[in-house]
Amino acid sequence: MARNYQASRQWQRIQDNWITEEVADDLTTFKSDRRNYKISLWNPEVNGGRYLKALIYHLSMGLDEQEWARVRRIKNREVGNPVTVCCNGEKICLDYLQATLELGFIEQEINLAGANIVEIGAGYGRTCHAILSNYDISTYTIVDLKNTMQLSRKYLREVLDDTQFAKINFVESAGADNIRDPAHFDLCININSLAEMSPATVCDYLELIDRKCASFYVKNPVGKYLDKSITGYSESDTPVQIAMESGPLRQVLDIHDNLAVETAASDFITAYRPGEDWICVADGWSLPWSYFWQAFYKNDRSYR
Ligand SMILES: C[S@@+](CC[C@H](N)C(=O)[O-])C[C@H]1O[C@@H](n2cnc3c(N)ncnc32)[C@H](O)[C@@H]1O
Repeated sequence: MARNYQASRQWQRIQDNWITEEVADDLTTFKSDRRNYKISLWNPEVNGGRYLKALIYHLSMGLDEQEWARVRRIKNREVGNPVTVCCNGEKICLDYLQATLELGFIEQEINLAGANIVEIGAGYGRTCHAILSNYDISTYTIVDLKNTMQLSRKYLREVLDDTQFAKINFVESAGADNIRDPAHFDLCININSLAEMSPATVCDYLELIDRKCASFYVKNPVGKYLDKSITGYSESDTPVQIAMESGPLRQVLDIHDNLAVETAASDFITAYRPGEDWICVADGWSLPWSYFWQAFYKNDRSYR
């Protein structure tokens, strides 16, 4: 009986176009170019969605029961059609997965019941949504740029109930100095945004936190990176040049080298300390991004 060990139509096409007769002429970069991408499963050029879902899946499968409970209490997470995976019947996306990890870190350091919280740079409001869904806080003030705040206002109005939404104050960044109600905050939160502001703005916000807050949770990158394979940009491209100017930590490091990241972490602790009276009571690597660090600072004031 004639057997058929020939290439399928699929593999014939690959042989014709990717793994051609010249495939072995030069092995210098073959593991990171289209030849190996057709052999392996992980072509980063077209597989962004596959990687994102694999990342969410791995992280979700590692969440403990308390972390899942926090996620489940956040209703309407599906608004905006996020990229999700499904673990044991519960859909989850990367934003709220990070939120439950962040809240787990924060709640080790502060009792959020009755707290007045201010967040600088809230994005679409995922942290506000997660906190209002999990704790009976007093107020949540968002300080942000005008356009982003239009997004968070509309999103939070849609996902929260009336009582929760009524606890939020929206303040444009230019008016940050004029916040009077409340006059002080038990906690300030900043996630992935001071690192994208000018160094002068970072100083002003840290000073504001020093004047008005009793504790500060920060999660940001420990430095900058130049890696065209993950950004698509060369060093001389404008987006890279602009990114190099922002944040308090502008040294370039290999962000996928844990020892380099750990070394940079001590500068992170110093750079985000709001003032002389503050001590860092907890810090650590912030999953899942290799180069993000988180820290919690306190002073000896108490507004409750
Ligand atoms: C990368 S997003 C992070 C959003 C959110 N913290 C998160 O982790 O999902 C950066 C946020 O910082 C805000 N932002 C940028 N410059 C700002 C400024 N000068 N004052 C206040 N917010 C600012 C942006 O509008 C945006 O909300």
